[in-house]
Amino acid sequence: MNAAAIQQYLDFAYIAAVVLFILALKWLSSPVSARRGVLAGEVAAGLAVVATLYNPELVAYKWIVIALIIGAGIGIPLGMVKITAVPQRTALSHAFGALSAAMIGIAEYYVGLSRISRFEMGEIAMEVIIGSLTFTGSLIAAGKLQELLPQRPIVYKGQNIVSLSVLGAAVLLAAALVIHPEQTVLFPIMVIVALLFGVMLVTPIGGADMPTVISLLNSYAGFSAALLGFVLNSKVLIVAGALDGSSGFILSVIMCKAMNRSFTNVLFGAFGTVQVAVGKIEARPVRSASAEEAAEILDAARKVVIIPGYGMAVAQAQHKLRELHDILTKRGIDVSFAIHPVAGRMPGHMNVLLAEADVPYDRLIEMDEINPEFPRTDVVLVVGANDVVNPAARNDKNSPIAGMPILNASEAQTVMVIKRSMSPGFAGIDNELYYLDKTLMLFGDAKNFVTSIIKELNAVAAGT
Ligand code: TAP
Repeated sequence: MNAAAIQQYLDFAYIAAVVLFILALKWLSSPVSARRGVLAGEVAAGLAVVATLYNPELVAYKWIVIALIIGAGIGIPLGMVKITAVPQRTALSHAFGALSAAMIGIAEYYVGLSRISRFEMGEIAMEVIIGSLTFTGSLIAAGKLQELLPQRPIVYKGQNIVSLSVLGAAVLLAAALVIHPEQTVLFPIMVIVALLFGVMLVTPIGGADMPTVISLLNSYAGFSAALLGFVLNSKVLIVAGALDGSSGFILSVIMCKAMNRSFTNVLFGAFGTVQVAVGKIEARPVRSASAEEAAEILDAARKVVIIPGYGMAVAQAQHKLRELHDILTKRGIDVSFAIHPVAGRMPGHMNVLLAEADVPYDRLIEMDEINPEFPRTDVVLVVGANDVVNPAARNDKNSPIAGMPILNASEAQTVMVIKRSMSPGFAGIDNELYYLDKTLMLFGDAKNFVTSIIKELNAVAAGT
């Protein structure tokens, strides 16, 4: 086959990959079709890689094989982390993606130095700046999520001016390189300044806002890949990068809305953030109950709403909750699951776990839809959720979570909360919900406690 014919096949494979990427995004937006979406994305990526390996311009496979071995050596263990560590793993993936985009840009600059046009220099400079800042920003985000770095926002006076000056310096260096691409001394300085800006971008952002930062970094990594597509003249990379970049951007905006955070704050780090003190949590009396009492209360209810949170993921209690749902439903009780957009540690965390346990999709109710239902709810069962049901978000304007929309669990007739202790959640603050007269604390591991409730319910059914 001649080179033109091969090129035609390659173009066809790239178009098929692009169509599959678009379908993957569409299918991923609903739990019903999400598995198909993942498969379509995998096939698309595989197709794009295989087509690229067939490219007649490729001359040496040795380096590709070495890179594949190193990449697989890092990627396989990374893919096996516990589901609770997925957010930091995702941040690391963005860091690697952005690093590779930046490094290819750097290589293109030095290899093509003698014949580089101003336009190409502009593309390379933008790609290297975005790739570099995404690399260090993602590493800081992963460090914060893994708790290797302090989760609180690190801020100082005049931070905005310093950060913007550093970004401005990177842009000025890029402009100087566009005019004089041969000034090789400016290039590494630009890279270092961009790396520094990535650190400055993420350190002022607090742990509770990390989900939004992760999706924003995802978006940056996508855009740097799209720019890389221009540099390498690869249409599939341009489209896939643009899809990744724009979907990450839309997700960031949606998450900012869900958490009632200003998008500019997240986009520019410390811009206008209010510093709030996290107070010490004092020991106060609460009412607690046993599994037997909890089972009796559930059995007497007509409408029950289960609110899962990060603790459900830690305990892997989703299968037991499905069992509890089935038993209560069989007894004619209306049971649904209330889903907060940032419950757990990654977007869609609760949906994924509950879908894995085969909880019917129509029983998962999003926050805006379930909130008006709480006053008509007999029992709310909070399972390892804390911040997402904390009334301080509505009542205390000095709280770190002030303004974040919450699930209005406190409006139900009775509230039962399964958690191991009075420890705070991710935001590190106390929760007034636990001290209400209508609240019963069910102390224990979520999976063990739900198992005990199921045993008690079965015992009642068996008449023992
Ligand atoms: P959290 O506020 O983090 O609370 C989780 C609670 O689960 C803790 O109070 C903990 O109390 C309990 N817990 C832990 N292990 C448990 C176990 N084995 N059994 C029973 N309970 C257990 O969770 P949330 O309400 O889901 O809120 C999520 C928070 O994470 C928000 O602040 C959000 O902004 C942040 N965040 C979210 C994301 C995304 S995208 N979802 C990403 C990063 C951060 P005990 O220790 O007393 O058991």
